[in-house]
Amino acid sequence: MNDMLGYNGKNVVITGAASGMGKAAAQLLVDAGAQVYALDIAEVTVPVATALKVDMQDAASLETAVNALPREIHALFNCAGVPSPPFAAQETMLINFAGLRWLTEALLPRISEGGAIASIASTAGMGWKPNLERVREFLALDNSLETAKHWLQENADAVPDGYGFSKQCIIVYTMSMAGELAQKGIRINCISPSPTDSAFMQQLKGEGQIPDEAVELFLPPNGRYASGEDMGKVMLLLNSELAGFISGQNLPVDFGYCAEVVMGQRDDLMGLA
Ligand SMILES: NC(=O)c1ccc[n+]([C@@H]2O[C@H](COP(=O)([O-])OP(=O)(O)OC[C@H]3O[C@@H](n4cnc5c(N)ncnc54)[C@H](O)[C@@H]3O)[C@@H](O)[C@H]2O)c1
Repeated sequence: MNDMLGYNGKNVVITGAASGMGKAAAQLLVDAGAQVYALDIAEVTVPVATALKVDMQDAASLETAVNALPREIHALFNCAGVPSPPFAAQETMLINFAGLRWLTEALLPRISEGGAIASIASTAGMGWKPNLERVREFLALDNSLETAKHWLQENADAVPDGYGFSKQCIIVYTMSMAGELAQKGIRINCISPSPTDSAFMQQLKGEGQIPDEAVELFLPPNGRYASGEDMGKVMLLLNSELAGFISGQNLPVDFGYCAEVVMGQRDDLMGLA
């Protein structure tokens, strides 16, 4: 087998593997010969080596999962995430970022030289620059979920949009960690997907919360929703040997949406230019 991606026989950990982008990535990783350890609150149906039930906002469940993971890990895929609405801002931050960061830092000592981390951010997080001070304030906290919860309660007014803030945190965290990890030979990147057809999208639009027209403003110039596999493939690419000199990047995976915004060819609704 041509192992151009470099996953054959390697231990990889993936969150959010029960559905959508994470499920697609997990299947691709199994197909690429990886030993896949899947963490999700829901049942994982992809035939992975080990599936562990985890709630990303629950420290005890994260610790139990980490204790069951192998001592050496080649790659971490942070895919789990929820939309807000319908999830409350604080819960969304805990699941989408605080849990992601805790897990990443718990596993870092086990990630071998040549290993990599890829996370899923969002176009919704790409307006991080004007909010950098707030994001840095949150990142300066210790990584415990308790501390995060406390800060979010104290600063509820400053973080009305839990989803956007969680994705801003992923992007800034990714860029902030790249230098330190490069010294260990480890890469870290994230992707910012355009609207993708998944359970997440159904939840976001559910019960009349966000109308179709509002989501469609963010569709790529080709006018279509991405599939989970469109995103899963790029996650594999970023953590693979093919991307071996790429780190600290937030890659928009949007068939040209951000390019159009930056070139002033469409409205900059997220303040990302
Ligand atoms: N769908 C989109 O349009 C879109 C766009 C940009 C970014 N994203 C991001 O992409 C990622 C994947 O989303 P998706 O579209 O594949 O959605 P999805 O709902 O299909 O998948 C999300 C996965 O996360 C898991 N999960 C949710 N809460 C969890 C928890 N508390 N603990 C553990 N696992 C939990 C779910 O069970 C599911 O398997 C998310 O981080 C999301 O924020 C999605």
